[in-house]
Amino acid sequence: MVECEAEIDLAAIAHNVSALRRLRAVEVMAVVKADGYGHGLVPAARAALAGGATWLGVAYLPEALALRAAGITAPVLCWLPRRHEDLTPAVRDGVDLSVSDRWVLDELVAVARRAGRPARVHLKVDTGCARAGATPARWPELVLAAGKSAGEELDVIGVWSHLANADQPGHPSTERQLALFAEALEVAAAHGITPRLRHLANSAAALAAPAAAYDLIRPGIAIYGINPLPTPPPVDLVPAMTLRAPVVLARQVPAGTLVSYGHEYVTTRETTLALVAAGYADGVPRAAGNRAEVLLAGRRRRISGRVCMDQFVVDVPDAAVVAGDPVLLFGPGTAGEPTLADWAASADTIPNELLTRVGPRVRRIYR
Ligand SMILES: Cc1ncc(COP(=O)(O)O)c(C=O)c1O
Repeated sequence: MVECEAEIDLAAIAHNVSALRRLRAVEVMAVVKADGYGHGLVPAARAALAGGATWLGVAYLPEALALRAAGITAPVLCWLPRRHEDLTPAVRDGVDLSVSDRWVLDELVAVARRAGRPARVHLKVDTGCARAGATPARWPELVLAAGKSAGEELDVIGVWSHLANADQPGHPSTERQLALFAEALEVAAAHGITPRLRHLANSAAALAAPAAAYDLIRPGIAIYGINPLPTPPPVDLVPAMTLRAPVVLARQVPAGTLVSYGHEYVTTRETTLALVAAGYADGVPRAAGNRAEVLLAGRRRRISGRVCMDQFVVDVPDAAVVAGDPVLLFGPGTAGEPTLADWAASADTIPNELLTRVGPRVRRIYR
């Protein structure tokens, strides 16, 4: 190998979707925003659909339109339409949009009139995450307005929400959010809105909160094989990404050699320093310096000193290492390499952040 590579196991994505679908026996909206959590938007979407997903979820409209441009016709929900963004392509391409506020509704009604076809919407209620969604106080007004335009201008496909603490099973706020969601559905029904799809479960809720499944689950991180729970998941999840990089230089140095910016690592004996071609521009977090491990020359070894933009160093005192040798940063762990969870712990972050930060310079290889 000559460059930093992310090998993507598409069968793993299909497997994970299929496992989640069997677990909850409801529809699956595979979340493929942010370039499929770094795995590639279109390949991840296709693999998820092959695994039984019937919906795709993205944050921004250009992501949804890229799926359509690739020929993907499955239903897509886009949940962060932006003010002053032209929503015409969404209606034209049959992309579902989330509605948290009157301005989206008014904009979509206008677009639908011009297009002569209804806009497909999912009304979002904030049940306690305080991100998007109408507050419970504004919810009746939103459903009333949606009800007035339902039919020719609006096709209300879904009512939905998002959980704040599903990754802590049994957290009291989840129960409160579920209760508020049930109330919001009643309010919607009282205004004549009975959506085909009610949904609020991300990966953690899909795995640990059966009551949150409703008609559809919206897993992201779990379809890429990562368990968001503090306990083992109820299904077998297979990590889809393996990140590797080559050694580009191996040098013999004496004891007392000061390594990388800031000299935060010092060799304690004569040794070999392996220079690895991956850095924070590729998604290797700077916080991993002197902390995270990689698999190199037969065993796990800690990064020596600071991670730089394009490279980091590993002290290899006990084995032969030459330029061109492969270094496994993370993967499923089956070859003895660290997992993404190990890396997240070493960098004080979550796997989601590490996956989505794997940079554009890293070649994706699909298997
Ligand atoms: C609205 C929404 N639904 C579902 C998901 C998927 O979450 P997770 O990756 O935790 O499954 C996300 C991701 O952040 C999201 O923003």
